[in-house]
This record gives sequence, C-alpha cells and structure tokens, in this order.
Amino acid sequence: DYDVQEKIDYVFKVVVIGDSAVGKTQILSRFAKNEFCFDSKSTIGVEFQTRTVTINAKVIKAQIWDTAGQERAVTSAYYRGALGAMLVYDITKRQSFDHVARWVEELRAHADSSIVIMLVGNKADLVDQRMVPTEDAVEFAEDQGLFFSETSALSGDNVESAFLKLLEEIN
Ligand code: GTP
Repeated sequence: DYDVQEKIDYVFKVVVIGDSAVGKTQILSRFAKNEFCFDSKSTIGVEFQTRTVTINAKVIKAQIWDTAGQERAVTSAYYRGALGAMLVYDITKRQSFDHVARWVEELRAHADSSIVIMLVGNKADLVDQRMVPTEDAVEFAEDQGLFFSETSALSGDNVESAFLKLLEEIN
C-alpha cells in the first residue's frame, strides 16, 4: 500500500539462526503475526517475514529471514546486508546452547562486523525441563558482547521486547 510504503524510514534485515527445532520459525511468527503454530514443520530453504514498527519516531520495516537450522548451504547470501541477528537456542536442550559459539563464529565469518546480535534462550515456558541455567547464557553473552533474552514463542513472553531491543540497537 503506497501510503504505508511512503512512511518507511529504514528497512532493516535481520536473520534468525540457531540449531534445528529451537523455535526460530515460531519466534518469528509470534513477532510478525502474533501467531504460534503447534504443528509447525521444519523450515525448508529460506523464508522471510516483515513487520513495521516505530522506534524513536522512525518507521522501521524489519525484514526478518528464517532458514532451517540444518541448512548448511546458506551462508554468504543469507547474511549479506543483515544488520541484526537473533541467535536462538532451546533452554531445554543443552546441545543447542553448546552450539551457540559455533553460530557466533559463523556470524563473525560471514556477516558484517557491525551486526547486532541478540542471544535468545527460547521455550522458557518449559520450566520443568530447563537444562541451560540463565547465568550460563548471561556469562556467554557478556563475554561475546551479545544482548540476551529468554523468550517463549508459545506464551509470547519477551519475544516483542527482544526484537524491539535488537532493532533499537541497530543504527
Ligand atoms: P528448523 O526449521 O528445523 O530449523 O526449526 P525451528 O528452529 O524453526 O523450530 P520451530 O519454530 O519449527 O519449532 C520447533 C518445535 O518447537 C515446534 O514443535 C514448536 O511448536 C516448538 N516450540 C517453538 N517455540 C516454542 C516455545 O516457546 N515453547 C514451547 N513449549 N515449544 C516451542
């Protein structure tokens, strides 16, 4: 719609990365459409969704890219032009957190050096199944200079604030 288009001040590309099944697609759907899908299928290839938000009186169109955690073919093209990254792990899967360092390496190798990274511990609603203590993630994030949040795509907790913080930090 022309009127809406006309108002956009910036388009920010953001990529969502992390191991398979950590909830990347669901976090994105929660932010872009306020939806959660219980029988979501593994992402095939690359998809993106957009949401337009106003931050500090600027209208920002977030173009958020999602790819399968297993998709190893995507690298340069996926990261090209990305200003922000959501690096997602699952608080109930220790392995997905142990792999975060590798994802950071991949970002440092392929993305712009000024990319803003938000580390996200998802599935925070599964309190009884937690395997990754919050403190471990806080320490890693501080060490690596990442922002950090724990979210639940299911309940919606912190999803909006994590994306808004990421977008706010891009400039
Ligand atoms: P790939 O596309 O394979 O890389 O997976 P993905 O990281 O995009 O994961 P996806 O969003 O498809 O979610 C994987 C599974 O976790 C699905 O069964 C979701 O319903 C479930 N899930 C995602 N987010 C949450 C959450 O916050 N809480 C709970 N309890 N389940 C979640």
